[in-house]
Amino acid sequence: MTTGTISRNNPQNVTDYPNNNTYFLVWNFKDSLTAAQIKPVFQRVCALVINLNNSALDRFPNSKASCVMGIGYNAWLQLGLPTPLPAELKNFETITGAKHTAIATKGDLHFHIRSDVQSFAYDMASVITDFMKTIADCVVEVQGFRYWDSRSILGFVDGTENPHGTDRDYFAVIDEQDPVYKGGSYLFVQKYLHNLDAWKSLPVAEQEKVIGRSKELDIEMSDEIKPKNAHIALANIGDDFKVVRDNMPFGSVTTNEMGTYFICYASTFTTVEKMLRNMFVGDPAGNYDRILDFSTATTGSLFFVPSMDMLDEFAG
Ligand code: HEM
Repeated sequence: MTTGTISRNNPQNVTDYPNNNTYFLVWNFKDSLTAAQIKPVFQRVCALVINLNNSALDRFPNSKASCVMGIGYNAWLQLGLPTPLPAELKNFETITGAKHTAIATKGDLHFHIRSDVQSFAYDMASVITDFMKTIADCVVEVQGFRYWDSRSILGFVDGTENPHGTDRDYFAVIDEQDPVYKGGSYLFVQKYLHNLDAWKSLPVAEQEKVIGRSKELDIEMSDEIKPKNAHIALANIGDDFKVVRDNMPFGSVTTNEMGTYFICYASTFTTVEKMLRNMFVGDPAGNYDRILDFSTATTGSLFFVPSMDMLDEFAG
């Protein structure tokens, strides 16, 4: 970007590690507006996202600040963005298990804003909102925070078995399998609420069986003792099928509405779907993920994250 030459495989910042502060924003375009009214603001927002990322590098190089924008299937069509669409972009469809459901909810644009400097994260969210509120309604606003050594609010370290090094690009960013969309990524999000009272009433040894790892030291259980319905037993679908997760805890202690914002970037959405099916329907069917007895998905949306240069084209 800084040299002025942008290559097609110049991704948005989808492979960075979670940091201290995050805003997650989901916006839906106002029904009362036409595409012709929405498009100029959308173009302006694409330019703004590029501007904010460049500015972050220049002004706060150590803050790990970035803003990633994703576009939903309906929005892609409504805005008249290129066809054929990214191969696996569609509306996420509800996955119904015997006991738990991964619901599907509408999302036109998703913003994933990160910065160790909280003020900068706030400023980015605020300036994006100034534009977005003229064309869309915000349906999800979550402020995630780093909890101790990257723990979910359930008290377990979250992110350990994520891909590392160059594997992050391999699993998160589209390569030659969809040449037009090389450098792009599928973004899947779910806002989970936890039943923390029920969770806290479980003895730690039992909690560890739910996750499949030890709580304090984050060590994986051996296959002999790991229950078949442990979270990691069902979410792990093999070394060749991984995603890059950036989950963050959020919530309010006084209402006890505490949760996990699940977010992942993937080069193929089918990988995410397979994980979700294992968790919600179970493998075999009925052997569902026990983490869901303490966690309810209240949203579920799929977005496509274009490469930076495609975002630049969209900016017009
Ligand atoms: C309630 C929401 C969730 C919470 C609190 C949660 C938490 C965790 C924790 C604590 C771990 C173990 C440490 C690690 O390797 O990261 C883990 C692993 C993992 N989770 Fe989740 N998770 C949630 C939802 C999901 C969902 C929806 C997916 C997939 C669609 C998923 C996919 C994975 C994968 C792939 C692993 C690594 C498994 C392995 O290879 O060992 N998680 N999660």
